[in-house]
Amino acid sequence: MHQIAVFSTKKYDIEYLNKFNIDNKLTFKFIASTLSQETVSLAKGASAVCVFVNDDMDSKVLEKLHTMGIKIIALRCAGFNNIDLASAKKRGFSLCRVPEYSPEAVAEHTVGLMLTLSRKYHKAYNRVREGNFALDGLMGFNLHQKTVGIIGTGNIGKATIKILKGFGCQVLCCDPCPSEEITQLGAKYVSFNEILTNADIISLHCPLNEETKHLINTHTIAQMKNGVMLINTSRGALMDSRALISGLKSQKISFLGLDVYELESEIFFEDLSETIIDDDIFERLLSFPNVLITGHQGFFTKEALETIAKTTINNLLCLLKGERSGNELY
Ligand code: NAI
Repeated sequence: MHQIAVFSTKKYDIEYLNKFNIDNKLTFKFIASTLSQETVSLAKGASAVCVFVNDDMDSKVLEKLHTMGIKIIALRCAGFNNIDLASAKKRGFSLCRVPEYSPEAVAEHTVGLMLTLSRKYHKAYNRVREGNFALDGLMGFNLHQKTVGIIGTGNIGKATIKILKGFGCQVLCCDPCPSEEITQLGAKYVSFNEILTNADIISLHCPLNEETKHLINTHTIAQMKNGVMLINTSRGALMDSRALISGLKSQKISFLGLDVYELESEIFFEDLSETIIDDDIFERLLSFPNVLITGHQGFFTKEALETIAKTTINNLLCLLKGERSGNELY
């Protein structure tokens, strides 16, 4: 029986992975810690590791896994910015991910952030519970006829465009690999710079890599429309957090919705309500009345968790048999 060391395990991971481990073909060793140089030894005895978004697979962790005889890594997420791919390839790791588990889950969360920011649902919820039915300060704006810029028109970008077209938005988008399907949805491919200067709302749906790190920075924010709304449900480091704070203070940015944050691995997925958070940038972002932050929950729907569990188990079973699952990273 193959043992799988599952890092960053939460209650819901245990529930869904066990539920879809038909005939108990795999044995899971559930580990609450994230994978890092400090915790990698917890994988001892396993045939494979299963990891999530904030597990760190730098070359040192990979070297240690290799020394321990582990050659299979199953990412139970789509993004793979947390793994040193060149190093993994060099050491002959077999590597799979869940390329698409529910683009609609993330797209719906993205539009949820837009609507909550524009219509101030979070404030209205608290007001009404306190018997305050005054509308002052709750005035919003229509999404209808607004120009939304979508950076990255892959699975999630496409699902977001479909929803926004339903709202009657004008959608501008950019992607190094344009797709005819996107054009048929009524979105228009333009340059990244055209999005910066024309969009009322800009939403990021591209992967994090060397080229896209800090895509949103002081320079690009300066080119945006005054009062722009920025949304990031992709990866935190696509945005320079310090530049966001400056943009908010100067009121260039009027609304900011984040489901991801550059240094989220120190904060997200844990209950820190009784803890002093030692991250002044994050705390400053939280202090703005026009900033809405969720803790990387875009993927978190029943449908997505089911697909993640089923695909991850299938990926592992294939790799353990030396077969390909079709979800390899190389
Ligand atoms: P995808 O691979 O289907 O699409 C990404 C698209 O971005 C591709 O079409 C690619 O050509 C494009 N792209 C690459 N570089 C670009 C650039 N410089 N400018 C514009 N476009 C560029 O990926 P998918 O499934 O749509 O996911 C997008 C991102 O969402 C992932 O990389 C991941 O980081 C994030 N994500 C976040 C989740 C959450 O819970 N908040 C859950 C799942 C994914």
